[in-house]
This record gives sequence, structure tokens and C-alpha cells, in this order.
Amino acid sequence: MNFYNKYILPKLVNYDMSDKNFGKERSAVVENASGVVLEVGFGSGLNIPFYKNISKLYGLDPSSELYKIANERIKEANFPIEHIKASAENIPLPNDSVDTITSTWSMCTIPDPKLALKEMLRVLKPGGKFMFIEHGASPKKAIENLQKIFTPITKPFTGGCHMDRKIDELITNAGFEIISMKNSGEKYKPLYYLYKGVAVKNI
Ligand SMILES: C[S@@+](CC[C@H](N)C(=O)[O-])C[C@H]1O[C@@H](n2cnc3c(N)ncnc32)[C@H](O)[C@@H]1O
Repeated sequence: MNFYNKYILPKLVNYDMSDKNFGKERSAVVENASGVVLEVGFGSGLNIPFYKNISKLYGLDPSSELYKIANERIKEANFPIEHIKASAENIPLPNDSVDTITSTWSMCTIPDPKLALKEMLRVLKPGGKFMFIEHGASPKKAIENLQKIFTPITKPFTGGCHMDRKIDELITNAGFEIISMKNSGEKYKPLYYLYKGVAVKNI
């Protein structure tokens, strides 16, 4: 891992993702999580204050650097948190073992989101919910074309972030059923089209 990715990027991710406007979105996504929860792309633990009714949180992320930053937030939590230093493409948990999965702005960065979502479906209990807020491809062709142009340019500085993934298609193609979803184009960041919703693993 190069110097930028090890020492600078984690601090930038924590700073950027701490945006107050993101906080409101986070609470709406994770406050309904319940039971044993797997958070994919746990990052610096910014969702911790917004969980309301959970018995345990697995924070899965390959980045030890971000997990170190998460430590202060972990100490404040009133539920147990276990760090899983692993990639979502290979989740070290048994089949049908978690009640809820959450992911906030992580599907853009995971190198193989198709494989990651298959793994997430495997570990989620039948009837369990996957709650997400992600950014991805815009339905406006002109914006999507710009997203395709800018993704390879910005990826090396953003930890591998893709702006042009069709998040709903990825989730559905993995075998989840999306039961609610809201989309919004971001006013100030037009290349960051949002997908916020809940998907279920059918019984
Ligand atoms: C933009 S950050 C979002 C962090 C956090 N979810 C949040 O909302 O603040 C993307 C996260 O995806 C994580 N990530 C990258 N590759 C991953 C993988 N293969 N599996 C799981 N997480 C991954 C990164 O380490 C980082 O924490």
C-alpha cells in the first residue's frame, strides 16, 4: 500500500464522510436496523451513533487505518462491536447468520460489488433486510457519460470509488428484492446520484 492510501486517504475519508448532511441520511438508513447487524464498509464508524435497537454490530472493512479512527466512536457505543478485517467479497460469517445488513457509501468502492452482494445475501437470514444508501449511475445519460469519464481519473485518489455503478441493478441481480427506494440527484454534487432504500432476502 502506498503512502497516500495508508496515511492520507483514511483521514480524508473520515473528514469527507463526516459531512453533517450525510449524518441525516445515515440516521434514516440505519436507525431501523435490528438484531445482529453486519455493516459492510464500516470505515471510521460514522454510523455508530445512529443505531437504535441492535444487539451486536459486525463492522466489516479491509482498512485497519479507518478502524483505528473508529476507535473513539466504538468506545461510546452501548452495544458490542466486532471488527471483521476482511473484504465483502469473502465474508467470514456462516450462512443465514445476521438479521440486518447495512451499507452506506461503500458499494462504490468495493472492487467486485457483484460478488460482495452475493456474499451479503448468503450471510443474511431469510426475511432479513439490507438497508443502504449509495451513490451511483445517474439515469440522465449526459451525467452518466460524465461519470464514466471522471471515474478512471478520480479513482486513484478516492480509494477506488466508482461513480457509474447501477446500484439497484446490482442489488436486484444478486437476488435481493428491493422493497423501497428513493433516488435523488445531488444539487451540489451532480455526479453523485443517490440510491437510498431497503432490500430483502426472500424466504
Ligand atoms: C467512502 S468509504 C465509506 C465508509 C463508511 N461506510 C461511511 O459511510 O462513512 C468506503 C468504504 O468501503 C471500504 N471498502 C473498500 N473495499 C472494500 C471491500 N472489498 N469490502 C468491504 N469494504 C470495502 C473502504 O475501506 C471504506 O471504508
